[in-house]
Amino acid sequence: MVSNLSEREKSVMYGIYKRLPITVDYAQGCRIYDVEGKPYLDFLSGIAVNTLGHSHPKIQNAIEHQIRRYMHLSNYFYQEPQIALAEKLVALSGLSKVYFSNSGAESFEGALKLAAKWGSVRGKKNMYAFSGGFHGRTYGSLSMMDKPLYKEGMGPFLDNKFVLPFNDCEALRAAIDEKTCAVALECIQGEGGISMVTQEFIDELTALRQKYDFLIIADEIQGGVGRTGKFMSYMHYKFTPDIVTLAKGIGGGLPLGAILFHERVADVWVRGNHGTTFGGNAVSCAAGLVVLNEVEEWAESNAAAIGEYLQLRLGELAHNFPRDIVEIRGKGLMVGIVMSYDAQEFVDALLQEKVICNVTAGSVVRVLPPLIIGKQDVDEFIEALTKLLTNRETQSKP
Ligand SMILES: Cc1ncc(COP(=O)(O)O)c(C=O)c1O
Repeated sequence: MVSNLSEREKSVMYGIYKRLPITVDYAQGCRIYDVEGKPYLDFLSGIAVNTLGHSHPKIQNAIEHQIRRYMHLSNYFYQEPQIALAEKLVALSGLSKVYFSNSGAESFEGALKLAAKWGSVRGKKNMYAFSGGFHGRTYGSLSMMDKPLYKEGMGPFLDNKFVLPFNDCEALRAAIDEKTCAVALECIQGEGGISMVTQEFIDELTALRQKYDFLIIADEIQGGVGRTGKFMSYMHYKFTPDIVTLAKGIGGGLPLGAILFHERVADVWVRGNHGTTFGGNAVSCAAGLVVLNEVEEWAESNAAAIGEYLQLRLGELAHNFPRDIVEIRGKGLMVGIVMSYDAQEFVDALLQEKVICNVTAGSVVRVLPPLIIGKQDVDEFIEALTKLLTNRETQSKP
């Protein structure tokens, strides 16, 4: 089956993605089933998208209901699902206004444009981001990233955009001045290997904001919407960003993104400055409202509680296999298992045990399960990891 699909795909599609060798039939909760009925434990969630797992009945009902009313009207119209979702986002974040987009890169791109407009009347042009950060594949986003694979041969990139070392207070102090317009960061870097910003670095950043007056953009595209056990990953720290970007998990499986604005920047754009055809699509917003309701009611606190259990069990594993596991890091259900070797082979072997994860930053197994998992799912995951690590240990014995 897979070979059939792979042959067909190869002849007509650009081979830009590495596909997993599974022919998916359907997906339910935290499991993906292949055409032979074999279940795979999905601890990747469509890369932090399926917040409530697959085929959640409330999301399906909301989508069905919305589809029968209307699917797309365009942003010429007031739309109840958009407004209801924006009200919820404002209530849960404490921020002041919302703009809807379709994806993460688009949200981040919009945030840069907004910051640029804010800076343009203040003589501020310079924008900074951090090494290991990931903000999308558009020119704006790429200009704020430093991974060569994403950029080589595709320049020139935007002017006045700089990448500084992550968590380096001295480098931050040396770079930031009155010409600084914005600083963007993921408080927990997803692609960068589930690396967390330190409170010390945030304190330095906010002190510099006080001194030089610039905007802080929190990219919550991967770490937002309850995944880390708080509504946004920045809420684990003592500060408030001026702009927040969202996407991925907010649509519960449908394409949706958002920019959230602190009141400081809520009036920067005037009508026509920015816009989109599909952004805030009514069906995506209807799904998003279910996601936020469930996140508020229980999924976020479940992520915190099960996340603690996951870290506890992984900590035991690290203790039992110190030659393989270097560190466990992250918050809630955004967790990295740092291996002492390239993690790809390990993740491939995990797939043979019917567990889906992926690799970031070379040696980090990225664990992003849906927020609905229970302790028994964690136990199943740990059992598969234990089996693999025990096998490796046995094989390495002379
Ligand atoms: C933190 C972060 N920002 C931005 C993006 C880009 O999102 P998208 O792929 O929806 O454009 C991603 C995607 O992985 C991300 O993790």
